[in-house]
Amino acid sequence: MEKLKVENLSYIYSKGTPFEYLALDKINLTIFQGETLAVIGHTGSGKSTLIGHLNGLFKAQEGTVIFEGKDIWADKNDLKNIRFKIGLCFQYPEYQLFEETVYKDIAFGPKNMGLDEKEIDRRVRQSLEYMGLEERYLTRSPFEMSGGQKRKVALAGILAMEPDILVLDEPTAGLDPAARRNLFELIQNYKEKSGTTIVFVSHSMEDVAKLADRIVVMNHGKIEMQGTPEKIFEHAEHLMEIGLSVPSVTKIFLKLNQSGYHLKPVYRVDDAVRVIQNALGGAASHE
Ligand SMILES: Nc1ncnc2c1ncn2[C@@H]1O[C@H](COP(=O)(O)OP(=O)(O)OP(=O)(O)O)[C@@H](O)[C@H]1O
Ligand SMILES: [Mg+2]
Repeated sequence: MEKLKVENLSYIYSKGTPFEYLALDKINLTIFQGETLAVIGHTGSGKSTLIGHLNGLFKAQEGTVIFEGKDIWADKNDLKNIRFKIGLCFQYPEYQLFEETVYKDIAFGPKNMGLDEKEIDRRVRQSLEYMGLEERYLTRSPFEMSGGQKRKVALAGILAMEPDILVLDEPTAGLDPAARRNLFELIQNYKEKSGTTIVFVSHSMEDVAKLADRIVVMNHGKIEMQGTPEKIFEHAEHLMEIGLSVPSVTKIFLKLNQSGYHLKPVYRVDDAVRVIQNALGGAASHE
């Protein structure tokens, strides 16, 4: 089922000045109920500008964004509700924490939604659990926490709105490798448990390969290609030409095929193991 649709969306920064810059150029994109969609593209390709349009943070200069069949800008009074339903988590969301306790920060969204205390409390605790934080943190000041923990609190605040679509702009950016892995696993787990539609921007092709059902590739404000990870990573060489990487395992297979092998292209380690086992004539024995 179609959930969110972007039609002919264009956006120019500093429009009408000598500095104008076409950041989005006639984008058409459909996001389906329950899917996990990854948006990838070189720096400056328009990813953040695009996802900023999905919940009306940016107003389309040209084109429309349609949520559940309705233009999100059709009725300005609805926009507030749309922003609860399409939860947008910016890059470095921890900079927006401001309350004196973790509890209050996570409760901020649900409170604005007009929910009662009991429901707010349920959501705060549930979101905290999704983010792998213990209840004892609820009374702490977010400012006493580590960078990784603050990020989790900020994310919990968005999950607490129980959005229909969760939109994440580089959720693991700037974290050390262990914290990145941990946060990524929590997001994966949240997806499995809640089934929420997710759109995420990432520079990590390993993460994209693990989580995405579908990938959109941006290049200079346009959608260069979109499709399943299998289809997209088949174009490994083209992706590298437009300034992107591919999963390491895909690169290894590409090199093997360039040196004369005929292996099925892969993008996940588990698949690579299977293809290699087949090529070697079945599973390894342990004699
Ligand atoms: N406020 C602004 N004024 C002018 N140009 C801008 C502004 N914000 C972004 N741009 C330009 O628009 C283009 C798209 O920016 P955007 O932030 O959407 O890219 P991105 O794909 O998210 O990049 P990154 O991977 O670095 O986050 C870039 O070339 C950027 O320099
Ligand atoms: Mg960006």
